[in-house]
Amino acid sequence: MDRILITGTGKGLGGAIAAYYLERGHAVYGINRSINRDLEKYTEFYFLKQDLSLFDEMEKTIPPFLEKAGELDLAILNAGILPEIKDMKECSLEEMYRVMDVNLWSNKVLIDLMFANLKTIRQIAAVSSGASVYGNRGWNAYSISKAALNMLIKLYSQEQPGTHFCSIAPGLIDTKMQEYIYSLPGDRRFPSIDRLKNARSSGQMPKPEEAAKTLAQALEKVSGQKSGSFVDVREM
Ligand SMILES: NC(=O)c1ccc[n+]([C@@H]2O[C@H](COP(=O)([O-])OP(=O)(O)OC[C@H]3O[C@@H](n4cnc5c(N)ncnc54)[C@H](OP(=O)(O)O)[C@@H]3O)[C@@H](O)[C@H]2O)c1
Repeated sequence: MDRILITGTGKGLGGAIAAYYLERGHAVYGINRSINRDLEKYTEFYFLKQDLSLFDEMEKTIPPFLEKAGELDLAILNAGILPEIKDMKECSLEEMYRVMDVNLWSNKVLIDLMFANLKTIRQIAAVSSGASVYGNRGWNAYSISKAALNMLIKLYSQEQPGTHFCSIAPGLIDTKMQEYIYSLPGDRRFPSIDRLKNARSSGQMPKPEEAAKTLAQALEKVSGQKSGSFVDVREM
């Protein structure tokens, strides 16, 4: 039985990947700001209700939660938010700080707490995005946060040679995040909106359950690659 920590288990990819491992008899340590009732039926699901943008609170709540696990086979840093699609010049710094806090800095805080409180961590995977490299117009703080996340992981991989690190783009997934894109009107400034809408309506966007399986299989394969690499499940 592996011990797996996952953030963002409330819904979407994080909820599905938690269920994927629980169904296979593993213990999952979930952290999310809201409760996912679907996971409560699993006896090996341990849950911490925590907003991952509240760093001072995290310093207090996470160490006792990690103590229950003692060591981890895998940590999947999945929680993330997508801000409004708009041009950089329309983004306030406050909005961008909020995205960076959740998508980037919460992971630095959590990684530091994990190494301070756990004996061993075999593998850490941060859920990144193709947006970390594409730089499509309108993806503002989201792209910046995911590009910085790739670098955060690369830097930690050199400090912690006993743990395998990767940042991983999970491909397109039909979740609440994509529902927001789907609800947007077409906009010539942001051609990626139409591309994503077409992918969703033509069935090229897997449901979270399917994406969770693809991600779990990719995470097994990735340990053969250099620690700290950015990988995309669509290229594996
Ligand atoms: N969907 C895609 O096509 C796609 C593509 C590439 C990458 N990704 C990445 O995949 C990951 C999962 O995305 P998703 O599509 O599953 O998104 P989602 O359906 O919006 O789920 C995001 C999860 O993160 C949690 N979360 C957000 N802010 C949080 C905070 N401050 N503290 C604690 N938990 C927080 C949410 O909690 P609540 O349940 O409380 O809201 C939710 O459980 C993200 O990192 C995203 O960037 C997604």
